[in-house]
Amino acid sequence: MSGLFITIEGIECVGKSTNAKFISDLLNKKNIKTHLTREPGGTSLGEKIRQTLLYEKDDSISPMGELLLLFAAREKHINDVIKPNLKEGKWVICDRFADASFAYQGFGRGLGFEQVNQIKEIIQGNFDPDLTFLLDAPIDVISKRRKLNPNDRFESQDKLFFERVREGYLELADIFGERTIIVDATKPIEQVQSEIQTHILEFIKNNI
Ligand code: TMP
Repeated sequence: MSGLFITIEGIECVGKSTNAKFISDLLNKKNIKTHLTREPGGTSLGEKIRQTLLYEKDDSISPMGELLLLFAAREKHINDVIKPNLKEGKWVICDRFADASFAYQGFGRGLGFEQVNQIKEIIQGNFDPDLTFLLDAPIDVISKRRKLNPNDRFESQDKLFFERVREGYLELADIFGERTIIVDATKPIEQVQSEIQTHILEFIKNNI
């Protein structure tokens, strides 16, 4: 029996990592084995690409170069980690996946939906998450939670960039509506997690 693939998306500081762990722990309590991972990252190559993408100093990476590096990492991650774990019957919980490339490179950097989709089709075919949580919040709320790192190539972007990314995510939630649940991440963490828990329990019921 194959496992299921759950992704968590959203702009910086919306609580993706905390909630990815929350989902994994919740599934484990229900006797479902999980593999918790992230993008960019999840493999040794992916973590090296992550370092380059986040901290490369000379800023010589173009938006298309960025997209190709992300998908180079993703191809390895899918083939070496995600698919083998799903095959073993584990549920894979991933902190960001291809929706982030549509939102950040497609909308934020301006490559557009179609260019990202072409690369996505080459690398992933019809391999997509079974369920996606979009943790949504305006950038003004988020930037009060933690100071964004000025040395990070993404976090150092201006407010307009993050507004485009957020709008992009909301458009994607519409396009991929059958697998996406939008959660209001401005609410207190207890409320956010109670909402996520309700959806996960429903998802387990419908899939086991
Ligand atoms: P994280 O800090 O949320 O783990 O993500 C690192 C950064 O990588 C974040 O600023 C968003 C960016 N990113 C993209 O631009 N495109 C992608 O496809 C992914 C997975 C991440």
